[in-house]
Amino acid sequence: MSLALRTPRLLLRPWRDEDIEAFAAMCADPAVMEFLLPVTDRAAIDAIIGRVRAHFDRHGFGWWAAELRETGAFIGFIGLVHVSFEAHFAPAVEVGWRLAKAHWGKGYATEGAHACLAAGFTQLGLSEIVSLTVPANTRSRRVMERIGMTRDPADDFDHPRLAEGDPLRRHVLYRIDRERWQQSTR
Ligand SMILES: CC(C)(COP(=O)(O)OP(=O)(O)OC[C@H]1O[C@@H](n2cnc3c(N)ncnc32)[C@H](O)[C@@H]1OP(=O)(O)O)[C@@H](O)C(=O)NCCC(=O)NCCS
Repeated sequence: MSLALRTPRLLLRPWRDEDIEAFAAMCADPAVMEFLLPVTDRAAIDAIIGRVRAHFDRHGFGWWAAELRETGAFIGFIGLVHVSFEAHFAPAVEVGWRLAKAHWGKGYATEGAHACLAAGFTQLGLSEIVSLTVPANTRSRRVMERIGMTRDPADDFDHPRLAEGDPLRRHVLYRIDRERWQQSTR
C-alpha cells in the first residue's frame, strides 16, 4: 500500500491520470527544466510516470504528486526515491522536488520536504537521506539547507549517466542522518 502525507497546505499522494497533463506542461517550461535533463516528448513523460508508479508499487513511496489542500490543484512532485545509479553514496534514498513555476516562492517545497524526511526517518525507518543537484541550482540547494541537510565538498561527484563535458554532469550531494534530523525537530 502507498503512503500519502499531509502537511498544513499540501497533500502528497500517489499520482492520478489527471495529473499527467499538468506535469507535461511543467516539463515543457524552460525555467523548471533549467538544471534538469530535457523531457523531449510525450513518450518521455509517459516513461517517467511509468517509473514513478513502478517505484510506488515496489516500495510504497516515491515522488508523491503534490496537491494544494485548499484548491486540489496539482503543483508538481515532492518525494523520496531510491537512487537508481551506482555512486559512492548508494544504496541511498534521495529526497527531491519539482514544482510548476507559478508555485515557487511560497515555501511548498520546503514544507513537503520536511514531511518526506519525517516519513523517511519514522515510517520507513531510514538511517540517512541524501539529496543531489547541479552546483548552480541554488533554489534547490536552499531547500536542502532549509531542511537541515549539509554538504561535504568531498561528496561532490560526476553523474554516471551523463557524458564527460555535459554541463549537468557535476553534482553536489547533501545528507542528513536520523540523529541530526531528530535533533532538528526537538
Ligand atoms: C527547486 C524548487 C522546488 C524550489 O522552489 P522554491 O519555491 O524556491 O522553494 P520553497 O518552496 O521551499 O520556497 C522557498 C521560498 O518561498 C518563500 N516563502 C514564501 N512564503 C512562505 C511560507 N509561507 N513558508 C515558507 N517559505 C515561504 C521563502 O522565503 C523562499 O523564498 P526565497 O527562495 O526567495 O528565499 C523550484 O525552484 C523548482 O521546482 N525548480 C525546478 C525543478 C528543480 O530544479 N528541481 C530540483 C532538482 S534537484
